[in-house]
Amino acid sequence: MAKQRSLRFPNGFLWGTASSSFQNEGGNTNSQWSRWERQGHIVTGERSRNAADWWPRAEQDFELAEQMENNALRLSIEWSRVEPAEGRWESAAIDRYREMLQDLRKRHMKPVVTLHHFTEPLWFAERGGFATEANLRYFLRYVARVVEALRDLCDFWLTINEPNVYATQGYLLGSYPPGEHDTMRAFQVLRNLMQAHVAAFYTIRRIQPQGRIGYCLHYRLFDPAISFWPLDRAVAGIQETFFNWAPLQAAETGRFPFPLSAFLAPISRASGARDFHGINYYTREMVFFDPTRPAELFGHRYTRRKAVRNDPGKEGNFGEIYPLGLYRVIKSVYQRTRGNKPIFITENGFSDTLDNRRPRAILEHLAMIHRAIQEGIPVHGYLHWTLVDNFEWNEGWGVRFGLIELEPETQRRIPRRSASMFGEICRANAVTESIVERYAPEALETIFGPTEKATGDVLV
Ligand code: BGC
Repeated sequence: MAKQRSLRFPNGFLWGTASSSFQNEGGNTNSQWSRWERQGHIVTGERSRNAADWWPRAEQDFELAEQMENNALRLSIEWSRVEPAEGRWESAAIDRYREMLQDLRKRHMKPVVTLHHFTEPLWFAERGGFATEANLRYFLRYVARVVEALRDLCDFWLTINEPNVYATQGYLLGSYPPGEHDTMRAFQVLRNLMQAHVAAFYTIRRIQPQGRIGYCLHYRLFDPAISFWPLDRAVAGIQETFFNWAPLQAAETGRFPFPLSAFLAPISRASGARDFHGINYYTREMVFFDPTRPAELFGHRYTRRKAVRNDPGKEGNFGEIYPLGLYRVIKSVYQRTRGNKPIFITENGFSDTLDNRRPRAILEHLAMIHRAIQEGIPVHGYLHWTLVDNFEWNEGWGVRFGLIELEPETQRRIPRRSASMFGEICRANAVTESIVERYAPEALETIFGPTEKATGDVLV
């Protein structure tokens, strides 16, 4: 019998899922996102209500993750629970997070804790949130409280989730709270978030010198509609620089590239202020030059016609499933940071209610991570977005990212095929030929293809 081929991952590789407080816990009524909901911004008209009911019952889903032999789980702390009014600390909320982390550890899953995942208390938002640099002290005070209270249970911290998404959606595109359309303010917020990360890094380091501390950016690829057309190339390059590489450069060096550096103050003590690079990767967009869109930097973005797609939300923005993009992002982050820190894939996922593209997509994205590791790039973990369907911001229950399906009305869990496949991968610490054969035989070629070049080409 022919030997089974497999893509084996390094010992100690972190396997798990990622989630966030507002999307999972339920009963969060005191943040700027709950106000946004009340104002009627959720395109399905829904409200998060109990979400995935994690506040009372996260442990039932942790058990499902344990059955998948995950060895890590990423969740976030809801600042508006811990500090519901300025300076008023809710010890019961901290106790509940302690219970959750204890439960994860009991199940041999490493807690990866995000301190800010898009939501913040209303009182903080009302003071101007991260648009006002003087407010950073409130964030740092909260960070210190949480880390002091949880340091015996967690040593892996993400300070801020996706500063670039928070700033562009909230302040440029206006599709997240506070719903503004102001390019300059969007960059100012991005800069302040980066400064908040750096300051939080040193705060955590002081409290827990052995902790691993980082943040994660959302990396999105922008490719020119016509690859040889200079204007398309230029606008695609500009989008990619502004969205991905300028924030990364600022976090690395403290300075944004020109022309942003002309109006954004440097970030103090930035260099060295992270122990790893967190990559959240979902999709790529194509771009052509469009003089009618100055607010979008003259780029008209769209999803390739022949692309394998995520389920669209009502806003239609979940785009192409493009595995090679993950390899390209990993490689670019590695090169741009001169390989200075290990990389974790802190999010990667697919909106696919019927689960008929997710298994293949997971396998092909893992193959791309494996390819990067083979080339010597230190990728140390993969956290899939997400364990159980959760409340998808403006899209509500309209799109589903879970390995496990959730019926919100009954809170019933129905594992998708992807869940059992992911379990097999984690157990084997490998993508094996047998797994691919059973879950996505059509991907055998692309995953175990003869040469690296061929693998990449097929996946384009
Ligand atoms: C966010 C998640 C979100 C996911 C899917 C990421 O950018 O961090 O909160 O659910 O994308 O849209």
